[in-house]
Amino acid sequence: MKRAQENGIFDKEKWVIKGGKRSPLLMRMGVLVIIMVCGVYICLTGCFNVVKTPTIITTTSKFIKSNNFQVNFLQCQSNSSEFHYIHYPKPLTFSREECECNPVRPFAILSMQRSGSGWFETMLNSHINVSSNGEIFSVKERRNNVSMILKTLDQVYNLDWFNSASKNECSAAVGLKWMLNQGLMENQEEIVKYFNQKGVSAIFLFRRNLLRRMISVLANSYDKSTKLLNGTHKSHVHSSVEAQVLASYKPKINATEIELKLKQEEAIIDQALESFNSTRHIVLYYEDLISNRIQKLQEVQEFLSVPYRNLTSRQVKIHGGPLANQVENWDELESILKKTSYERFLHADYR
Ligand SMILES: *[C@@H]1O[C@H](CO)[C@@H](O)[C@H](O)[C@H]1NC(C)=O
Ligand SMILES: *[C@@H]1O[C@H](CO)[C@@H](O)[C@H](O)[C@H]1NC(C)=O
Ligand SMILES: *[C@@H]1O[C@H](CO)[C@@H](O)[C@H](O)[C@H]1NC(C)=O
Ligand SMILES: *[C@@H]1O[C@H](CO)[C@@H](O)[C@H](O)[C@H]1NC(C)=O
Ligand SMILES: *[C@@H]1O[C@H](CO)[C@@H](O)[C@H](O)[C@H]1NC(C)=O
Ligand SMILES: *[C@@H]1O[C@H](CO)[C@@H](O)[C@H](O)[C@H]1NC(C)=O
Ligand SMILES: *[C@@H]1O[C@H](CO)[C@@H](O)[C@H](O)[C@H]1NC(C)=O
Repeated sequence: MKRAQENGIFDKEKWVIKGGKRSPLLMRMGVLVIIMVCGVYICLTGCFNVVKTPTIITTTSKFIKSNNFQVNFLQCQSNSSEFHYIHYPKPLTFSREECECNPVRPFAILSMQRSGSGWFETMLNSHINVSSNGEIFSVKERRNNVSMILKTLDQVYNLDWFNSASKNECSAAVGLKWMLNQGLMENQEEIVKYFNQKGVSAIFLFRRNLLRRMISVLANSYDKSTKLLNGTHKSHVHSSVEAQVLASYKPKINATEIELKLKQEEAIIDQALESFNSTRHIVLYYEDLISNRIQKLQEVQEFLSVPYRNLTSRQVKIHGGPLANQVENWDELESILKKTSYERFLHADYR
């Protein structure tokens, strides 16, 4: 998060630091002067003339009227490194109309199955200016090879991808949900390069308690074959009754290989964080979202530079309460994990 704040769109502090070794006060004054000069320049030349300067955006006068200040401010900011992260898509399939000059921030939610990313994404999509297009790469053909992946991403970030989550004209942040095992890690080198070139921001969403995740994975895969809810398989539910039905199944966990499995999962997460370290990113944990939802969602909205909104979801959590009630062979599992560094996973970390 620290990193995200440092990169904040109007963060003059960073500008100052980047400026060199001169005294911060002097630089701060300098920034002030530049801003003032920009302001005066705008006043003198009038908005319409400013637009003609070739700095960043070539455009018509139409939207300047509606969004005067922001556009001009961005032009003043055009040499800031932050500018790299903002883009103005020109969709092939429709016109952005009055929002043509609203910058759009491309993002990707990078996560693992059963880590709360479905819930998180529905909350993001409850924001009028955010459009997250779901797990696009769950379809194998789209991740056959890296050129297919990049082509798909281009379409998404150019606002030309259509599904129920698309909001089009006035989207200020557009993205997708992407599981690490959906071609992301296999093609990490090219994808990191693409992200950095196009200024895609990564939102990592992981679960601290990987044992709980494992239970959720096993229960979900069990439900795929048994379809507990009147013969329909559901990965996410909208009522506590449905949640109870799904949580009634207690998986048996192979205690022999549990430690190894948890280690492997941790390694995957570490590797993902390392590979995308050069990309603008934020790391979220499901547990923090549960316990501190308002603040975490605020951080995310700041990270995406979208206006603050209360975000909502109708989804209901499936597994709650102590872990001991959720696993068939709890005693066995407990005695094995107690001797490992994963003992912490045994303790309930939220209600
Ligand atoms: C921005 O950068 C361009 C070229 O890199 C330079 O010509 C211009 O003077 C810079 N503008 C400001 C306001 O620093
Ligand atoms: C990638 O896959 C698509 C179809 O899945 C295929 O048409 C294309 O030729 C492939 N590209 C490369 C470089 O292999
Ligand atoms: C958000 O969407 C609303 C409604 O479409 C639009 O008026 C507004 O300009 C958008 N805000 C941003 C920052 O794009
Ligand atoms: C499942 O069946 C029960 C009883 O037959 C009914 O009350 C319930 O609404 C059904 N649920 C769904 C999701 O169809
Ligand atoms: C548990 O895992 C071990 C090691 O991978 C394997 O040999 C064993 O067959 C597994 N047991 C069950 C019941 O799947
Ligand atoms: C990412 O880079 C920063 C600074 O270069 C470093 O301090 C941090 O440990 C790195 N994180 C990972 C997960 O590699
Ligand atoms: C968000 O919700 C809280 C409580 O639910 C409310 O107090 C606050 O005014 C809301 N804020 C906005 C911006 O709607």
